[in-house]
Amino acid sequence: MHSHELAGEELGVIRPLVEEVASLHASVEEAAFLENVSTYAQELPRRLRAFLNVFRLTEPSGVCLISGYPVDDAKVGKTPPHWRKESDGSNAMEEEIFLNLCGALLGDAIAWSHQRDGLICQDLVPIEGHESKMLGSGSELELVWHTEDARYSYRGDYIGLMCLRNLDAVPTTFALIDEVRLDPERVEVLFEPRFVFRPDPSHPSDSEGEKAPVLFGNPGSPYIRFDPYSMDRPESREARSAMDYLIRMIDDNMTGAALLPGECLFIDNYKAVHGRSSFKARFDGTDRWLKRINVARDLRKSRAMRKAPASRVIF
Ligand SMILES: [Fe+2]
Repeated sequence: MHSHELAGEELGVIRPLVEEVASLHASVEEAAFLENVSTYAQELPRRLRAFLNVFRLTEPSGVCLISGYPVDDAKVGKTPPHWRKESDGSNAMEEEIFLNLCGALLGDAIAWSHQRDGLICQDLVPIEGHESKMLGSGSELELVWHTEDARYSYRGDYIGLMCLRNLDAVPTTFALIDEVRLDPERVEVLFEPRFVFRPDPSHPSDSEGEKAPVLFGNPGSPYIRFDPYSMDRPESREARSAMDYLIRMIDDNMTGAALLPGECLFIDNYKAVHGRSSFKARFDGTDRWLKRINVARDLRKSRAMRKAPASRVIF
């Protein structure tokens, strides 16, 4: 994995920067914060900026990990029972700012109006009553691996996660397409635009499917767009068998990371599929708690669905 451990001198720059930004804004959801976050991010230590730039530009891996950000467990408070934000602000605002600063070095954070009230920085927590749902808020049911928002051509390029609490070491699972040894004949079929993508359960089910390839880009090191649970079974035997082949190969290459508090994991939504292991939630304020953002490299791709050039919410 492409990884970066924050050194003491880097934290000596990061912490005052985060504190200053926190004094300027009430929340990371504020339009003024989102308009300025990429400017603030230029003040992160150069070593960290270079690390994320290499991840974005040279694609050394489908995931990257930044560790060593100190999280004060008492200050962030209990794991919230729901993703809906309290109106009196977030106890974890500094952590949210750090995650957003890192994300701003990869692109611009986006949100979907029909997902979690259009929040940019979301709490991934188990919700009581959602135990058996195939959603980020589920727990007892494994969240089966997928490309995020696979149905949409203007989906995000990266998912950024920051761990605040993970006492049970619940793994975030992923498979890196570059680690899957693919048969070139199957690759050829998977490069053809004959696979139908449907909205996953986090999107309204009324929109039409989109026909597209599963693999694209460079055949030697392809990009992937794959969410078998929300795709049609192809009619042709050849396409069906190529799809089943890729499912097996990804299953065999699934791995994961149980994030520790303060760790940020960025998943390249073009180079990796991701999911979450099942776990038994306690709903007592000590459950797994991650912050999540969705980052697009090119906001213009979704311009038709957003109200203004700089607005982040896709309708
Ligand atoms: Fe996901």
